[in-house]
Amino acid sequence: MYLTREEERILDGEEGEAESLALRVLVKVGEALGAERLVPVVHAHASGISYSNIGEPGLRFIERLARMGGKVRVYATVNPIGMDSEYWPSMGVDSGFAEKQLRVLRALRDMGFELALTCTPYYLRRPKLGEHLAWGESSAVAYANTVYGARTNREGGPLALMAALVGRTYLAGMHLDENRRPTLLVDASWAGVGSATEAGLLGGLLGELVGEGVPYIVGVPRWREVWVKELCAAAGALGSLAMCLIEGVSPEAPKFRAELSGLERVQVEPRDLESVKEKLSGGGEPDLLYLGCPHASLEELRELARLLEGRGRVRREFWVSVSRRVFLEALREGLVEKLRSHGIKVWKDTCPVVAPLRGAGFRTVGTNSVKTAFYMPRMHGIGALVMGLEEMVEYAFRE
Ligand code: F3S
Repeated sequence: MYLTREEERILDGEEGEAESLALRVLVKVGEALGAERLVPVVHAHASGISYSNIGEPGLRFIERLARMGGKVRVYATVNPIGMDSEYWPSMGVDSGFAEKQLRVLRALRDMGFELALTCTPYYLRRPKLGEHLAWGESSAVAYANTVYGARTNREGGPLALMAALVGRTYLAGMHLDENRRPTLLVDASWAGVGSATEAGLLGGLLGELVGEGVPYIVGVPRWREVWVKELCAAAGALGSLAMCLIEGVSPEAPKFRAELSGLERVQVEPRDLESVKEKLSGGGEPDLLYLGCPHASLEELRELARLLEGRGRVRREFWVSVSRRVFLEALREGLVEKLRSHGIKVWKDTCPVVAPLRGAGFRTVGTNSVKTAFYMPRMHGIGALVMGLEEMVEYAFRE
């Protein structure tokens, strides 16, 4: 791989031991993927920092990088952790777990990461068209490529962390024009997508159908931001999709219009979405209702508050997860207090998928998130029911 003079110096350890290690890893991965050079990134977002997922080996690795003196060179943020960093005792998280999780955070902070603890880094810094990023959260990756036309691969494991330390990643995959072309035309005119949940089901279907390709989606006349968020999260979870081109949403979509007639075409019917829903739904009545995968926006919190208007306290456990920033904004707006007055638990920094929920006693989660429904049985042995937000609220008040 071609390296600039500065990159040679980093590799030789002149800029620090951690940076040298990080560059070595990125070069190795890049060479395996056929990258000819590295590319500077403006924002790195590291996932895989929940102690529940990375355990002792992950903690030791991150602390080692910090001890080596690693410092981020670009704006760098991190994904959710296994607990709310403030209210963890009320989540039922034990102090042994909390202590390890806080060590992960200290090491990341020492390296200069902003402890955003969210899977929605695009709410913190909006990516620009054509900008190169190194993000590790699959839902955010798909969102950045799809909605902003920014360029990022799904940086697995510690790669985004490494990219943060050297401000670069390997130039391959979604960073290259040729991999951003549509590979399948998806006509969703008859699918009846009219909610975040249905958009998520469409995303799940695409994840299964498309593999690593790029679907070009037509036929949904009016997309809401939260729908695209759910679609991207589901597509990234049920498949390895890193980008969609959505007519009316994606800035890069118009330039491919002329090529659409040459693409294989798939028509999506309501029964296709229904079958994704059935496959993911298993378990009895939900004993946990959950909104906030990916982390809920203010708009979603307002919608939930509106649905609760005039009602009392929920009869089932109802969790919402948000980023710190949205939490603070919601506090200012009185939304947190309002939701809490209905018995809803609003967590920041975390989500049920990356929290240590196994053994927490929940049997079935009812959620509008296809991604959560996919992961809960796999991560925690908890069944899932995919449902719309209104249905979740109805369930919350059932005897
Ligand atoms: Fe975020 Fe957790 Fe979902 S990290 S995308 S809320 S699984």
